[in-house]
Amino acid sequence: MRKPLIAGNWKMNGLRAGLDEISGMGRAYTPALRARADLLVCPPATLIHAAAAAAIGTGIAIGAQDCHAASAGAHTGDLAAAMLFDAGASAVILGHSERRTDHRETDAEVRAKAAAVLAEGMTAIICVGETRAQREAGRADAVVGRQLRGSVPAEAPAARLVVAYEPVWAIGTGLTPGLDDIAAMHAGIRRVLGRLLGREAAKAVRILYGGSVKPANAGEILALADVDGALVGGASLRAADFMEIAKAA
Ligand code: PGA
Repeated sequence: MRKPLIAGNWKMNGLRAGLDEISGMGRAYTPALRARADLLVCPPATLIHAAAAAAIGTGIAIGAQDCHAASAGAHTGDLAAAMLFDAGASAVILGHSERRTDHRETDAEVRAKAAAVLAEGMTAIICVGETRAQREAGRADAVVGRQLRGSVPAEAPAARLVVAYEPVWAIGTGLTPGLDDIAAMHAGIRRVLGRLLGREAAKAVRILYGGSVKPANAGEILALADVDGALVGGASLRAADFMEIAKAA
């Protein structure tokens, strides 16, 4: 009942010349693959409009990597959810660990941003994940549970809510948790969502794994029961790698 979602997070990478990759992804996103997995690419905000144009007719959705919680106003340099939607984005990544670290984003801020995105009719992809020190201290479940309780808006519509579990120590490092650890965390996340949103709603929320997903490991990770897709950083920059991961879904 949950269609896998393969989402690419380009982070602060990409100029207009890189949009060829989206065209390449579009060519490889065959009707058979479209039936099996949803594809989303989240370029930097400067490329959203052009990426959305490049994606027309391909079935690939375009998303953003952050937004402001307010709908407009005196917030120099920030972007409102409605502006991202207007530019062609249908989803927004929120609370990525790089934003939680670089911009000291709190759970409360992530929740306010997610509420703004959902109010705009867009999909909110809320990122959670523990640091290496927290995992080694046996606190991974507690940390992720606290992030979920703090970051997920009450009454978030399940169909437009996505949670991405991204262990901070796995992002960009080539390291991944063991398959058992990923499976256990995803099941735990669904249990917490059940308490927050209700059991039935929680069953409809897609929970993505993120952190060093590559063509070589995507198959075994995506085969896990509560893993409903992947949030892919480095390997989403090249159409060939990204589409290999999509085919593994
Ligand atoms: P990575 O990044 O795939 O390069 O590890 C994942 C992410 O940060 O979303």
